[in-house]
Amino acid sequence: MAGPDAAELDRARGLLAGADTICVLTGAGVSAESGVPTFRGESGLWKSHSPEDLATPHAFRRDPRLVWEWYEWRRETIRACRPNAGHGALARLALGSRRVRIVTQNVDGLHEEAARKVAGAGDPSPALPLELHGSIFRVRCTSCSYRVSHRHPLRTETPEDLPRCPLCSALLRPDVVWFGESLDPEILSEAFRVAREADLCLVAGTSALVQPAASVPLATLDAGGVVVEVNPTETPLTRLARISLRGPSGEILPGLLDGLETPGT
Ligand code: OAD
Repeated sequence: MAGPDAAELDRARGLLAGADTICVLTGAGVSAESGVPTFRGESGLWKSHSPEDLATPHAFRRDPRLVWEWYEWRRETIRACRPNAGHGALARLALGSRRVRIVTQNVDGLHEEAARKVAGAGDPSPALPLELHGSIFRVRCTSCSYRVSHRHPLRTETPEDLPRCPLCSALLRPDVVWFGESLDPEILSEAFRVAREADLCLVAGTSALVQPAASVPLATLDAGGVVVEVNPTETPLTRLARISLRGPSGEILPGLLDGLETPGT
């Protein structure tokens, strides 16, 4: 696939260099080059799996074993994946001098892994993302408020194998947002605050079809900022973006972001 031409890339770098405050919105596409399947498109998860059977509260009530089996398969796939050059470039940007916040729809933890890698012995927190849809490596209780990080493999062969809450013995579930569920209101309002205050929203690897995440860049636009998009294909956001760079984020983001001058210098 032909990438963006040099002039277009330069124009986008100019916009980024002039922005004091940047909101980054990412979706499954930024992890595609790491080997994490996306949801839509030819080889997307929703092509061969039905969201209604696997990613709703109703599906979990009906057959928790089936839902856990699918999540454990995804967890296994993702555990074997490492951040790619795009995650690295975003982490370097957020750990630099600029005011940058990463907002992600991804549950794979790869932004965090990149942030820790880039920060080394330093503080990774400026590059830790706001996770709109939760984390596949966290579990929470279906009954009480218990919630904990959980990366280890789980057994899902029989209903008796499924993980249970150490406090109240109810079933544990993946701490991700399912269809028909609300997003965490604090994370959501923080994401929209970041977007409203940003001069620029950089949107990478999302089909921009799932609400409310798809409205995050609209908050930047409404407040007078601009949108720059990175995606191999057109999305509903493309016509609203000042620049839309066509190509894979792992190839485009390092060239777009590395070595940007600090605003005001
Ligand atoms: P989608 O699978 O809907 O869209 C992935 C996007 O990434 C598409 O626009 C692709 O063109 C683009 N893409 C593919 N490869 C890429 C690459 N190498 N570099 C950059 N972009 C690439 O994923 P999301 O938009 O993240 O929600 O989906 C949003 C939500 O829908 C997910 O968080 C999930 C899903 O249902 C929940 O599970 C709640």
